[in-house]
Parts: sequence; structure tokens; C-alpha cells
Amino acid sequence: MKTQKRLGILTSGGDCPGLNAVIRAVVNHAISTYGWEVVGIPYATKGLLERKAIPLSLHGLDLRGIDPLLNMGGTILGSINKGDTLDRIDEIITCYHDLELDALIGIGGDGSLAILNKLRAVGNWQFIAIPKTIDNDVALTDRVVGFDTAVNTIVDSLNRLTFTAASHDRIMIVEVMGRSAGHLALHSGIAGGADVILIPEIAYKIGEICQHLAELREKWGRKFAIVVVAEGIKIAEDSALYPSCQTPTCGIGQYIADEIRNCSHNELDIRVSVLGHIQRGGIPTALDRLVATAFGKTAVDLVAAGETGKMVAWHNGQVEAVALDAVLLHSPLHVTTNSYLVETARALGIYIGK
Ligand code: F6P
Repeated sequence: MKTQKRLGILTSGGDCPGLNAVIRAVVNHAISTYGWEVVGIPYATKGLLERKAIPLSLHGLDLRGIDPLLNMGGTILGSINKGDTLDRIDEIITCYHDLELDALIGIGGDGSLAILNKLRAVGNWQFIAIPKTIDNDVALTDRVVGFDTAVNTIVDSLNRLTFTAASHDRIMIVEVMGRSAGHLALHSGIAGGADVILIPEIAYKIGEICQHLAELREKWGRKFAIVVVAEGIKIAEDSALYPSCQTPTCGIGQYIADEIRNCSHNELDIRVSVLGHIQRGGIPTALDRLVATAFGKTAVDLVAAGETGKMVAWHNGQVEAVALDAVLLHSPLHVTTNSYLVETARALGIYIGK
């Protein structure tokens, strides 16, 4: 039986901090433990279609002995989060075989992993998935690569905004990413001391937000407030201004600002910050590097064990393999409306809707 493998690795979907740390772990473990050849497929399925494979080596990226991949944001392989992949399945499978790959490790969010899983099934590939996304919406894993860094980036912004908000008695509206899930807003809002957190999973009322802000001022003497708004929230039932506002085109942070301004009869001084792609950049946190490294190592071991159609997952402080089909069935994973974090937010007097 052939034991020398040619292993492909690709990153797909929106980038996030920690992808390079995964690549580093996969390359190191596959080469030093198993003696395999590892090639990077640039720009995910686009690279496959173009039959591109970049040789990756243990010391290929060393800078005078420094190993930059562990703390470098983005992905050295490049990524795409759109394309016509599903219309070109047969072509991609042919290209995969032309590249003489024995196995593929794909790092992606639920959308990319669904496409890669389809290719695996039709092409009969040996494929192992590694979950990454700042949205934290991949099911059946307690951790994904990239989420912790994004949360910390937002918290850093909230810390900065709090002092300028307090100095000017302002209401700061902070729009954060997350697509249709509220994990990013909920985690960063609690950790960053928000007064209001709006997430797609929980309905809110503009009138209740205004009442909450008034209470903060009148009962507690707090003249400023931090309002974290997930990009995926829908317009409120009691919206007076924007009956046709649909995310992401209307700018949901601005919408909330205008609604609060309206219901407070223009008495509040309000500013909006849209954090945007700042949330996807930066140096990965220690936790993201740890998760990336453990995921990369385990993915290689799963390839060595002959597994396919599996995703590495973090459970109870360990990395396990779960069936990718099952992961995709339950993704995107949303915030449970009575989760302990939602209850914690409420207990701390944060308005989060009902
Ligand atoms: O899925 C990650 C994510 O950053 C979402 O939070 C956001 O809605 C989307 O990607 C932005 O995508 P793009 O980089 O294409 O603007």
C-alpha cells in the first residue's frame, strides 16, 4: 500500500486570523511525522480549476529562523467566497485528479464546507474539513478558528468607544458582522460592556431600547451608552422610519441610530461605527493559534488513518472527528434564545430584546 501521500490544502470563504497557523501545523505534521508532500491550492476551487499547486515545505517561509505563519493574519494561499463552483463539479473533480492529490484538507465556514463536501462525495475524494469563521456558526464544535480574535478586536473597539462616549455623553451604535447569527455581537457585547445588544435571533422593539436608555440616564446617572448591533438583525416591529430597510443594504447600524434619534425626540447625541472588515484582520489570539494548531495536527492524523468526510471539532477541551454531513445539517448554528449567555446578558441589565 502506498504510504507516501501528496496532500493538498486550501482555504475557502471569508478569511480570518488563524488560517496561516492551521497551514503551518498541517505542513509541519504531514512532513515531519509522515514524510508526505504538501501542496497549497491557491484561491480554493479557483486554484483547483486552474490546476495550481504550490509546494509547501517546513522551512519555506522561515525568516532567519522566525516562523511568521503562527501570528500572521489572512491566508498565504488566498481565498474566495463566491463563484460558480457548483456548476463546474465534474471539471473540478478532473482537475483534482490531474493534480495527483491523494487527499485534501479544506479550511472553511459552513458555505465553503458544503461545496467541498459535495465535491468529496461526487469525486470520491479523501477530504477532511477544518472549521473557521468569525461568525462562529458552524455546528457540532465548541470552537472554530478566527472567532476569538474577532471577538477581541470588537472588544478593543468597544473599550475605545466607551471613553469617548463617556466624555461626550453620547450613544455609540456599533455595527458588527456575523451574517445571520448573533454570536459575535453577543460575546463581544457582554465582554465589552455593552448596554444594548441586538442579534438576529431575538426580536427587539425600538420603544424598549429608548426606554432602556432613558432608565440608564434617569435611574443610574449614565449619560452615555454602547449599543452593539449585529449586521443580520431585521427591522423592528415598531419601526417608524424604515419599513423597507433590509440588511445588508440599508446599513442596519444607521437605521438603529435614526430610530433611536426619532423616538428620543432628537435629544440624544448619537454616533455610528461600522467595524466592517477590521473584524477579519489582525494577529490571531493565543486561543485561535492553539485551536488552529490542534485542528491542523488532528486533520493530518485523520488523513493518515484513512478517514474522509469528517470535520475536526473541539469538544470538552479535546479535538475529535465529526461527520461533515451532520455538521452541515445543523449549520448555520444560531444563538439559542434562552442560552446561558443570553440569560447572563439579561441578568446584567443589558437590553437584548424578548
Ligand atoms: O462570514 C464571514 C463574514 O465576515 C460575515 O460576517 C460577513 O457578513 C461577510 O463575511 C462579509 O463578506 P465579504 O468579505 O464578502 O464582504
